[in-house]
Amino acid sequence: MSAVLDMGVEPSRIVYAHTCKLTSDIRYAAQVNVDLMTFDNQEELRKIKAAFPSSRLLLRIDPPSNFKVLHELGNKFGCHPLDASSLLRTARDLRLNVVGVSFHVGCGAENPEIFAAAVRSAATVFDEAQALGFHFHILDVGGGFPSSLVSFGQVAEVLRTALDLHFPDKRKVRIMAEPGRYLVETAFSLTVTVIAKRRASPRVASNDDSMEGSKGGEVFGYYVNDGVFGSFNCLYADMAHQFLEARLVNPTKSPEKYGSNVWGPTCDGIDKILSDVMLPELQVGDVINFEDMGAYSLSTASGFNGIPRPLVLYHCCDTVWKKLFPTDTLTEDSEQ
Ligand SMILES: Cc1ncc(COP(=O)(O)O)c(C=O)c1O
Repeated sequence: MSAVLDMGVEPSRIVYAHTCKLTSDIRYAAQVNVDLMTFDNQEELRKIKAAFPSSRLLLRIDPPSNFKVLHELGNKFGCHPLDASSLLRTARDLRLNVVGVSFHVGCGAENPEIFAAAVRSAATVFDEAQALGFHFHILDVGGGFPSSLVSFGQVAEVLRTALDLHFPDKRKVRIMAEPGRYLVETAFSLTVTVIAKRRASPRVASNDDSMEGSKGGEVFGYYVNDGVFGSFNCLYADMAHQFLEARLVNPTKSPEKYGSNVWGPTCDGIDKILSDVMLPELQVGDVINFEDMGAYSLSTASGFNGIPRPLVLYHCCDTVWKKLFPTDTLTEDSEQ
């Protein structure tokens, strides 16, 4: 909250979207007037009653469970829509101001219809709330928007149709979203350098020849300067990052490929980025690029073993820069 407020954002534009909060954080929200927050359980309602009784609340509901997602959040947050009435009754008894519904369908949903199903559940909760005397007017459709423009378009289409159907204008509902990876995933590429190289022991590499051109055990192990305790933490923290694609910046002309493991720089054995992939033989100093590394990468890096987090370099092509900052006087040679 303080980071966003320090950027000059009005408190009324912030939603404190964690359903299980520290009481001291709820008090802080009260101090700085961040009054819109989510809940999904009775205990939280009591904490909020004690720490910030005048706040405006969104009831977070579970996303539909019959859709496959790469990274689910419904296992940790959200109440079952069938439990919504009982929670709303408690809120009413506590004289708390519940103003709407939120959900997060999870990340990497295969089928955009998951958004339509979640909107349908939300509409049901709106109806129940009305019957209990609440005047709901906010629907927060959460995150989980894919970063590829094609699939984003499909999700937007499904969502727009569902909103038109279940929340026609007359309901005067304010629709909010919390896109995360959609905004940042494709904005960042990660570049790592091979800092060390090891040929696997003869026992492991005994079938070297048979492995050429086919998937097999390790022939080469490469050690690079970022790993799972750094930006590649996403391999564990974000299932949607399971399919990393390594692109060699200066690939060799040689057609031979070898079974390879690519390891991070720490002294921990779990610090492995790529397992048993076929790569041409690399040399120390070679550079490997990974695209679309903007989401849940640097932000979850720990710096374990004293390995510094990667340097972030921002760049932008000249035409875009001039559109964004038409009066900027930077010369062509300036650092942009
Ligand atoms: C409450 C909430 N909103 C939004 C997001 C952003 O999700 P995504 O990056 O999938 O858009 C998250 C991610 O965990 C979240 O927990």
